[in-house]
Amino acid sequence: MSPAGGGPLRVLHVGSEALPWCKTGGLADVVGALPAALQVAGAGAVQLATLLPLYPQVRAAARALGLRLVDTGARPRLRNRRGAKVWTVRRPGPAVFFLELRGVFDRPTLYGPDQSAYAAQGYEDNVERFALLCEAAVEAGDQLMGGPVGLFHAHDWQAAAIPGLLADRGRATPSLLTVHNLAYTGPFGPTEALGLPLSAAMVRGPYQHGGRGSLLAGGLALATAISTVSPSYAAQIQGPAEGGPFAPLLAARGVVGVANGLDRAAWDPARDPHLPQPFSAADLSGKGAARRAALAHFGVLDAPDELVLGVVARLVPQKGLDLLLDLLPVLHQVGARLLILGEGDAGLAAALRAGVEGSRRRAGLIVGFDEGLAHRIIAGADVLLVPSRFEPCGLTQLAAQATGTVPLVHPTGGLRDTVDDPGDEGLRAGRGSGLWMGAPTGAALVAAVQRAVTLQRAEPAVWDALRRRIMGLPLGWEAPAQAYLALYGALTVAPGPSALA
Ligand code: ADP
Ligand code: GLC
Repeated sequence: MSPAGGGPLRVLHVGSEALPWCKTGGLADVVGALPAALQVAGAGAVQLATLLPLYPQVRAAARALGLRLVDTGARPRLRNRRGAKVWTVRRPGPAVFFLELRGVFDRPTLYGPDQSAYAAQGYEDNVERFALLCEAAVEAGDQLMGGPVGLFHAHDWQAAAIPGLLADRGRATPSLLTVHNLAYTGPFGPTEALGLPLSAAMVRGPYQHGGRGSLLAGGLALATAISTVSPSYAAQIQGPAEGGPFAPLLAARGVVGVANGLDRAAWDPARDPHLPQPFSAADLSGKGAARRAALAHFGVLDAPDELVLGVVARLVPQKGLDLLLDLLPVLHQVGARLLILGEGDAGLAAALRAGVEGSRRRAGLIVGFDEGLAHRIIAGADVLLVPSRFEPCGLTQLAAQATGTVPLVHPTGGLRDTVDDPGDEGLRAGRGSGLWMGAPTGAALVAAVQRAVTLQRAEPAVWDALRRRIMGLPLGWEAPAQAYLALYGALTVAPGPSALA
């Protein structure tokens, strides 16, 4: 995969969040873990680095990790802003760079009052903020990586200005745009367009879609190739139901689907600092301690013969958590407990709060973002509910599998690709990796939970075999990293949109 001049292929990842520096959702898990996995899989053929904004959260994370931010000396020249500086940290693994821009990234939350990459209401200048990140990547990438960047790997709308900036500069460097969620498009109007570092031809051309500006639209039109985070979602977004107005463009250009992996170092119940007691498929006894810790945190009484259902998700329509409102009132009939952790829509949070209050103390809700609690719920529950209406990939179902918690999912997008339900006969025969609900409806959710309760009570050996089996699945980044490397190879050996045709 060496570029023409020899030496490793330099790949600069650009995104708006990455662990362990800053996180609001799965994007951070992926941008945090993928470069390191690629470095291992690439065995010297690729040099990876990541450019992120320098938010206050990054400074706090560095402090917590005992790392000092070091000035790289790079001062990317930006069209409309002065004072850009790039910092790094010294630690093993791929380099990570942080763009400092006063007044742009040093704000209390990453994206706006609603702390989510996918918030409907963000800071007014969000498109400009993240276009500046892209401009810095294009301006300073070569200097930061110690030689010409061979490929820009852009994540979501926040990095989707990169292909346009490259085109404006007449640079032939290929770019890969990975869509983590097509529902968020980086929309802008004429006033916001004035602050963008893209040329007027770009802003009026590829970066227009349906009469409005959209950073994602331009990225989709101009990136050398487009990928998304599961094969099923790749197929879905090329059709009108999930692709909406982008479907024709995506179908014409083609989308490669690579299902996400799980960071096995972060999700290993045998060495997870967030869990009260280690456990493994060979000895599941510590799982009970996580269950008790999670229930106690919510103030929900344990009933050892009842299933504990867990939910960890952003409170947004995508995740289908309103369907829990049908489950909460019947929990006592079904014979289960329910723990919900989420942050997001205030109206949904209030509705869930009311439902939880009517659940006769069988359910608990915590509104907030809490990494440790998320681990204790996912690892401590018997079943993790993921009733998403659509799901590009999803990561919590993988974390559930890694910790011997049966994922119960609506099989859409990546949930279909990562959770297989072969029916009761198939489960008895030792197949399957979770349970499906038939439709994204409350009734289907209740029926699926009832099936889980019956299966666990009536056939404990089948249930036990299922949870031990899913813990042994190859959930890590090894296979997806190989798929991305193959994609990088195709993009850099024969540059141009035809490389993947
Ligand atoms: P999405 O990126 O659409 O939110 P994913 O399933 O891909 O969905 O990733 C969500 C990630 O964020 C997972 O790592 C999950 O554990 C974490 N997460 C979601 N909500 C919370 C929360 N309230 N507290 C802690 N972690 C959360
Ligand atoms: C987005 C999607 C989620 C995916 C994550 C990481 O947030 O909603 O399905 O797992 O990105 O790719």
